[in-house]
Amino acid sequence: MRPLIAGNWKMNGLTEESAALARGIRHGLGDAAAEVLICPPATQIAAVAAILAGSGIAVGGQHCHTGKFGPHTGEISALMLRDVGATHVILGHSERRADQGESNALIARKVSSALEAGLVPIVCVGETAEERDLGQQQQVVAHQLEGSLPQDFVGVVAYEPVWAIGTGKVPTAADITAMHAFIRAELKRARPTAADARILYGGSMKPGNAAEILALPEVGGGLVGGASLVAEDFLAIIRAA
Ligand code: PGA
Repeated sequence: MRPLIAGNWKMNGLTEESAALARGIRHGLGDAAAEVLICPPATQIAAVAAILAGSGIAVGGQHCHTGKFGPHTGEISALMLRDVGATHVILGHSERRADQGESNALIARKVSSALEAGLVPIVCVGETAEERDLGQQQQVVAHQLEGSLPQDFVGVVAYEPVWAIGTGKVPTAADITAMHAFIRAELKRARPTAADARILYGGSMKPGNAAEILALPEVGGGLVGGASLVAEDFLAIIRAA
């Protein structure tokens, strides 16, 4: 399967800079071996999708609601993301688990709504620094997978150790390999519909470390935050895949 390199712009991007970044990535892409996805803030999805139309670069959302329509002020449904050109949606990112208090059960319902709307969910899991210090990382990730993935899950899983996100810290190759093997085994055991799902690595992926990380067994791509906001850096990661 081709690796997937996904850019998570988080809460960054006004109209002009978003358009410039999307154009820069489109023009610099060339013949990429990887599948490429950009997840801008919701306000920019339609504009970025228009800029990327026909380029082969996909566009995604960063979260969605559990329902389709209704009295949920400020919310956005999977169907609405789809309507403006998204094909993917990131769910259960640690920033939303922490800032919005999203539980595994809530994330599972969002994943189901994404699947129903025809979006590919990218479900994030990963331990905190304290949990790793206690040696609980596999237990934590197993619990998140069990709770956040509906029984009929198909899509993408992203392993993002919380302590590696935006910090410049990256787990060792051995630690990434061990966790990705563990996630693969858990999917095979408990979510056979997702036995072959891509497992992305995320957390301080940069041009300087991408090639090494992306070459590790069971690493099916990357979920890139900070480095996806600089066209040259994101393109370098795409080339490393
Ligand atoms: P980072 O973020 O690349 O800035 O560490 C990754 C993510 O949160 O998806």
